[in-house]
Amino acid sequence: MANDVNTPGGKGVQVFAPATVANLVCGFDVLGMALQQPQDVMTVRLREEPGIVIQHADGYQLPVEPEKNVAGASLLALMDEWKEKVGFEVFIDKRIKPGSGLGSSAASSAGAVVAANHLLGNPFSKEDLVRFAMNGEKVASGVKHADNIAPCIYGGITLIRSIFPLDIVQLTAPPLYVTVVHPQIEVRTSDARQILRKEVQLKAAIKQWGNIAGLVAGFMKNDYGLIGRSLEDVIIEPVRSILIPGFDDVKKKSKDAGALGGGISGSGPSIFMLSKEEYVAKGVEEVMIDVYTRLGIEFKTYVTMINYSGAKVVDVQ
Ligand code: HSE
Repeated sequence: MANDVNTPGGKGVQVFAPATVANLVCGFDVLGMALQQPQDVMTVRLREEPGIVIQHADGYQLPVEPEKNVAGASLLALMDEWKEKVGFEVFIDKRIKPGSGLGSSAASSAGAVVAANHLLGNPFSKEDLVRFAMNGEKVASGVKHADNIAPCIYGGITLIRSIFPLDIVQLTAPPLYVTVVHPQIEVRTSDARQILRKEVQLKAAIKQWGNIAGLVAGFMKNDYGLIGRSLEDVIIEPVRSILIPGFDDVKKKSKDAGALGGGISGSGPSIFMLSKEEYVAKGVEEVMIDVYTRLGIEFKTYVTMINYSGAKVVDVQ
């Protein structure tokens, strides 16, 4: 892949940046999980002249102007804090489709700053990198949320206790299989945020924070039953699920097939389900295939697990 970069540059690295499931049903903007599949592949090189040059290998027509591109905006934030003059050349092979709800913009943002940090000799902490990459999320959705960025950089499951100042908590979890279906319709995160009500009833809030606490406790105590019971969202899902044809059917039939539970991945349209065993996760995939085949909507499925390494340098050139 790296050899496809057609402008000769300086030292370069290739990075794998994983897809992520934000929210984890009840934890809107505060919980997220990295996946083993799919992953973006990026190559970043040092340039002799200052500035950022971005190239894409995909057909998604994403902007290449640094301030309008999520990877570019993240690198600009990093360069702002790096006192010396530096330039980067970024080549993105996007395998996580934009608008899928699988953290496509976060993968580009996180991958870019992880690569740049490596090229500069790792002067920045992971928390710094999250802070830089949140600028990419601002470009993508208008808001600096970190529930895709943090798991993409740290790996595993992360809790964003606070954004300003950043307070990221890495959670442990028992082995979990993740089945994902991505119906090939686009839901823009900015639209999916716009439709949300700005006020929450106290009764709903109590249920929601009970579930968030239960989910975190379930992960830390390896309690599959508690994880399953806590995968409930009474605030966001009832509004957003309307944008996803087949959602209720997938959810009900996946649970009937033995899934612990699940819901909308990020802002959708992807749906994810967690299972304790692989054969259940594969059965859930069959359910998803059946629902979308009947609906006549194109889709893609993944049966994968949690990615504990996060965005990582896989090759240095
Ligand atoms: N927490 C964000 C949202 C994630 O649900 O809008 C977007 O991927």
